[in-house]
Amino acid sequence: MEKAMGYPQLKSTKVKRVRAIQIALVLLAAFSYSLTYLLLPSTSHTESLPLNAEAILAQCSALHLTPGPPDDFYARTQSDRFVEGTKATLIRNASIWTGLDEGYEVVLGDVLLDKGLIQQVGSVDLSSYSDVFVLDAAGGWVSPGIVDLHSHIGVGSSPSLSGARDSNSHAGLVLPWMRSLDGLNTHDDAYQLSIAGGVTTVNVLPGSADAIGGQAFVIKLRPTAERSSSAMLLEPPYSLNGTYVDPAQRPRWRQMKHACGENPSRVYSGTRMDTQWAFRQGYEAARIIKEKQDAYCVKALKGQWGGLGEFPEELQWEALVDVLRGRVKVQNHCYEAVDFDGIVRLTNEFKFSIAAFHHAHEAYLVPDLLKKAYGHPPAIAMFATKARFKRESSRGSEFAPRILADNGLDVVLKSDHPVLDSRHLIYEAQQAHYFGLPSNLALASVTSTPARVMGQDHRIGRLIPGYDADVVLWDSHPLALGATPKQVFIDGIAQLEEPYTSEKPKFVQKVPATPNFEEEIAAAIKYEGLPPLEPKKAKADVVVFSNVSNIFLKDEATRRVTEVFASADAEGVVVIERGRIVCSGPCPAVFSRSDAMYIDLEGGSIFPGLVAYGSSLGLTHITGEASTNDGPVFDPLSMMVPDIIDGSVIKAADGLLFATRDALLGYRNGVTSAVTAPSSPGFLAGVSTVFSTVAPHKLVDGAVIQDVAALHVALSLSSGISVSTQIAALRSLLLSEGNGEIGQRFGDVVAGKIPLVVEVESADIIASLLVLKKEVEAANGNAIHLTLAGAAEAHLLAKEIGQAGVGVIVQQRPYPSKWEQKRLLAGPPVTQSSSIATLVAHNVTVGIKIGDPAGARNTRFDAAWAALESNGAIGKAEALALVSTNLETLLGVTSSNGDLVATKGGSDFEGKVIAIISPSRGSVDLV
Ligand SMILES: *[C@@H]1O[C@H](CO)[C@@H](O)[C@H](O)[C@H]1NC(C)=O
Ligand SMILES: *[C@@H]1O[C@H](CO)[C@@H](O)[C@H](O)[C@H]1NC(C)=O
Ligand SMILES: *[C@@H]1O[C@H](CO)[C@@H](O)[C@H](O)[C@H]1NC(C)=O
Ligand SMILES: *[C@@H]1O[C@H](CO)[C@@H](O)[C@H](O)[C@H]1NC(C)=O
Repeated sequence: MEKAMGYPQLKSTKVKRVRAIQIALVLLAAFSYSLTYLLLPSTSHTESLPLNAEAILAQCSALHLTPGPPDDFYARTQSDRFVEGTKATLIRNASIWTGLDEGYEVVLGDVLLDKGLIQQVGSVDLSSYSDVFVLDAAGGWVSPGIVDLHSHIGVGSSPSLSGARDSNSHAGLVLPWMRSLDGLNTHDDAYQLSIAGGVTTVNVLPGSADAIGGQAFVIKLRPTAERSSSAMLLEPPYSLNGTYVDPAQRPRWRQMKHACGENPSRVYSGTRMDTQWAFRQGYEAARIIKEKQDAYCVKALKGQWGGLGEFPEELQWEALVDVLRGRVKVQNHCYEAVDFDGIVRLTNEFKFSIAAFHHAHEAYLVPDLLKKAYGHPPAIAMFATKARFKRESSRGSEFAPRILADNGLDVVLKSDHPVLDSRHLIYEAQQAHYFGLPSNLALASVTSTPARVMGQDHRIGRLIPGYDADVVLWDSHPLALGATPKQVFIDGIAQLEEPYTSEKPKFVQKVPATPNFEEEIAAAIKYEGLPPLEPKKAKADVVVFSNVSNIFLKDEATRRVTEVFASADAEGVVVIERGRIVCSGPCPAVFSRSDAMYIDLEGGSIFPGLVAYGSSLGLTHITGEASTNDGPVFDPLSMMVPDIIDGSVIKAADGLLFATRDALLGYRNGVTSAVTAPSSPGFLAGVSTVFSTVAPHKLVDGAVIQDVAALHVALSLSSGISVSTQIAALRSLLLSEGNGEIGQRFGDVVAGKIPLVVEVESADIIASLLVLKKEVEAANGNAIHLTLAGAAEAHLLAKEIGQAGVGVIVQQRPYPSKWEQKRLLAGPPVTQSSSIATLVAHNVTVGIKIGDPAGARNTRFDAAWAALESNGAIGKAEALALVSTNLETLLGVTSSNGDLVATKGGSDFEGKVIAIISPSRGSVDLV
């Protein structure tokens, strides 16, 4: 049974033997000392047995102990983290993903939690229990708590305030003595939000500004009675708080952050060569100390005390010496082949192992190089689709998890919180699964694999009796889009006081049947991460799509998306001739045409081309590389604007960059046009433009769909200029009949000709804007077309916003990065309604914005997610409108390209975009 439960073999006999040897050595040393003393004349006596000889000998023999749980760990009946008074809980009738059998085991039955531990799984015997809290899972999915191998929660707290930015030390390049625990803030809004996403344990790493940024610490996210940082720790090193350490006990695993590549080099204005030398210098210092210790101990253990002195140790280097002793899990931020190569050499030069390479956007291109790392190949801890934010990540592939798994490497998905909100770490695993990572490995990638890679797999990451009672009950299969916890337990304590759930459709209760991406996977490797993304044109003039489940079309008059055809048996047919629909629905006699191309959609859909808004898409290739971007505008409120452009309003259309990878990836995923405003560091951005995501350059027909869409400004508490000043500037621009271009553009807004889009988060600023809108409308007699973008706190004024006829463009997964977003509406399970559903219920026209250009490709998922968490309030057609017609209305888009998207396979994660139908180009693109 023990073996089946995955317990490692215990080594207690070995430890006992070590202890016996220690005692024998001490006695021997003492004996030889007495003998020497008796036999030699006292004047020639130079060797003296130190008073702490026993401690030294114990310390010396302990140097060879490998980390792990104490001998009696598996006999525990209560967790060291158990909170007195916590009731036993039975989760009954669940589909339990245990993590055993390589992640394939699913037990149908019950889970009993007590004393902070999982006590029983499967058919549960309650005979010795009298008072048990029962939670009926009604067949629903239960998984271990989500484990995040890479987080900055608590050290980069939310909302971000200057008083709590503690993730990086800038004291040097090599700082193994720094400890993330010393910056671990106990107040971070993200703790509760991440728990609401099922996250229970995270590894809090120092940042990546240094080559060796310091020691990381594993914490559980739940609040503690102590309310201290230390109380959150999971198995900290024994020596952390100065407690007496029994040297015969195996030490506990430690964690350390390393970083190579751009970040450490950039921070110190150095290069990769400087960083690599800093590593070697640090490791050389540690190696010298380690060898001194080893030589010292050889002598001490032989009883040669003469002139031995103190045990060689330096507090600054002890943690790095421990790395060389194989007692530290090195978590290494490292992206590119050049950097892996350097670290692999370093590990072989100094003989230590890397637990995981993190980010590692090029790892899938060099699996054999990774296998040359000293000791064992590192695990690879990745984002699913976030890439191209800097050069290092520009060859990142959504297929990397699958390719690495094919090469036998351990795959972990991580958040790098708050870079990604760890609340949605499961979404990373879902996307990796969608792009080909097998389901057992996808679930393991955020549970058992990270637990093992951080050395905690003796207690977390799987659902096994005797393990910590960290358990999530989901509202759907955890790999289905939008999977949301119904309850989360940490140490057996229910974390959601009053969880809200949204009724989910049946199809999300099973593992999504994901599409076939074999060709794309091969191309990713062949082209080293830069496969051509341009679509191919269908050769036939007539294209027939069959086995269609749903057809959604745009009604240009009402600006709505409507479902014009639905068939449960996928009996729909759509006939396209030169990019135009000639028949849709049950079209008779179309299968005999010899000039037609036939495409079986296997139950897929046809819907209007989606629109991306909210990032610098189309103005950037690699966001972190200034020379690949259009760049920022001069902000007239906070900067000296050069005379030559003073009074101008910048047009995004003038800076458009075509054929960027993010735009093309958007196109291949159904985003056929985008609205982008100039990038502004402050108040006035300029006018946005509408462009085609597939056009090769500006001069082809239809590249620029609409030269000018809306006028964009931003109002923020963090702008450095008072909000009242920003409002005053806006009032003055709207009320004065200004001259020049600025006057003309604001004149167009006042006349209701173009929308004013305001980036704004705070409900207080939104309220001031609604007042200003009335003031301006009263003065001019025209209704202003006002759209709020971002608007995390808009739900607080949903009624007033609805009454004012103002539209809102929100982020699908809101996160309190800034103070002015603090009062966001978190959605299920934290609140009954999401921000989108709340606004829609108040008749507000709502759109969804993307966060960064790489997010364009996920627009289809964002829309589906909004519907899934709306408890039926938002249907499929309304969800599509959130990312198409609504955005066009809100952003002043009056001309659209009329593109249609065809997906093969079922909804959400089961479908794949395979064709774009373009009436304006008169063709069908195959993607
Ligand atoms: C478990 O839940 C399913 C789905 O609700 C139900 O059909 C089944 O009867 C339940 N089984 C037990 C033993 O309660
Ligand atoms: C130090 O940590 C140990 C183990 O976690 C704990 O038992 C002890 O109470 C702690 N001591 C102090 C002073 O916090
Ligand atoms: C529809 O799909 C089924 C199964 O996928 C297939 O057997 C059938 O040939 C398809 N029908 C058409 C008209 O393409
Ligand atoms: C929204 O509009 C509908 C239809 O016009 C109306 O019945 C309803 O009262 C409105 N709801 C709110 C909250 O304004």
